[in-house]
Amino acid sequence: MQLTDYEKRMQNGEMGEPYRKAMDILVALGESFDAERMVEVKNTHLAGASIIVTGEAGIKFAENIQSQGGCFCTRTTSNPTALDSARWRELGMDEKDAEMQGRLTNALAKLGTQVISTCIPYFVGNAPRFGEHVAWGESSAVIYANSVLGARTNREGGPSGLAAALCGRVPEFGFHLKENRYGKLLINVTTPLSGVTDYGCLGYYAGTLSSQDTPVFTGIPAAATPDELKALSAALGSSGAVTMFHAVGVTPEAPDLETAFGGGRPELVVEFGEKEKQMIVNKLDREKSDDIGWVMMGCPHASIFEFADIARAIGDKKVNPDVTLWVCTSAQIKTIADRMGYTAIIEKAGGKVVCDTCPVLAPTRDLAQKMGHRILTTNSAKMAHYSPGQFGLMTHYGNIDKIIEAAISGKWKR
Ligand code: F3S
Repeated sequence: MQLTDYEKRMQNGEMGEPYRKAMDILVALGESFDAERMVEVKNTHLAGASIIVTGEAGIKFAENIQSQGGCFCTRTTSNPTALDSARWRELGMDEKDAEMQGRLTNALAKLGTQVISTCIPYFVGNAPRFGEHVAWGESSAVIYANSVLGARTNREGGPSGLAAALCGRVPEFGFHLKENRYGKLLINVTTPLSGVTDYGCLGYYAGTLSSQDTPVFTGIPAAATPDELKALSAALGSSGAVTMFHAVGVTPEAPDLETAFGGGRPELVVEFGEKEKQMIVNKLDREKSDDIGWVMMGCPHASIFEFADIARAIGDKKVNPDVTLWVCTSAQIKTIADRMGYTAIIEKAGGKVVCDTCPVLAPTRDLAQKMGHRILTTNSAKMAHYSPGQFGLMTHYGNIDKIIEAAISGKWKR
């Protein structure tokens, strides 16, 4: 790779050991993808912020870099952790996990991370500009940043994200290059879409077909909300390894079909109609019994508008005593939910607003066993996807009104 003088100084250790190690990671990554040079980044979102993904080795890596004088030079934010930093005891989380998570969070903060502990950084103060090169991790956030905001990022893993935050550089390959951002397959949406659950179905269907390719959608309404597009992003990144999508007339790099495909032709053209939508609902609503178990919303983390919908659906009703209801979000969104009275409605009903964490990044299997649950009921296609394999929980899948009704009655209606 061609490196600038400044990059060479980092690489040969003149700036200190943390930067030498970080440049080693970035150069090795760049060489494996035939990158010719580095590109400057001033914004990083770190995926490796939970001990569930980093383990002890990741904690030690961050602590060593910090003790050797490393300091992030980008505006850096962090993904959810393994536990709610304020209520972990009350929620049944482990003392040992809390101690380990504290070490990791502490090291990341000392390195210069703004510890926002959420996968929706773009809703809480870290929204990159159109065309800006960034180094983001967390598949749903990466897809949202590339597709909806028009920023440019690959899916950075834990070590490469840390290295990018230290050096302010990423290797220039993949989605940093315009020629790699065009669509490969065309999905014509022919059924009305309403709410995050429908967009989750579309994303799940498209992710299954796309693998690593970029899908282009027609038929998504221009009025699709940011919450709907975040649900689409999350589902695309769970059933597939997608890094961005285009929605013609909706996302900034797809004013028309020709631009979305860069003048090329789609390799595959498929339809997403009522039949396909129902097929995905049936796939994610796996549990045959009408039991409910653990109701989980907020994957990706719930926005304030989703809180408003959840609070409206609950009203003055009570959650069934056999059901556990959690809404996962960021501490920042919860502050507004507190002010609006949404938290009080949810918790008075018997639910919990859980901050800083999410089921995929928390010890959810252990928690479910402690609570005696074997079913997870959710409006998130991503969570429904991971639930059986990762937590051993079967799933019910439906929209907010349906799952709140189920949480209250204790029964799933088909
Ligand atoms: Fe976010 Fe966790 Fe879901 S990181 S997208 S809430 S799996």
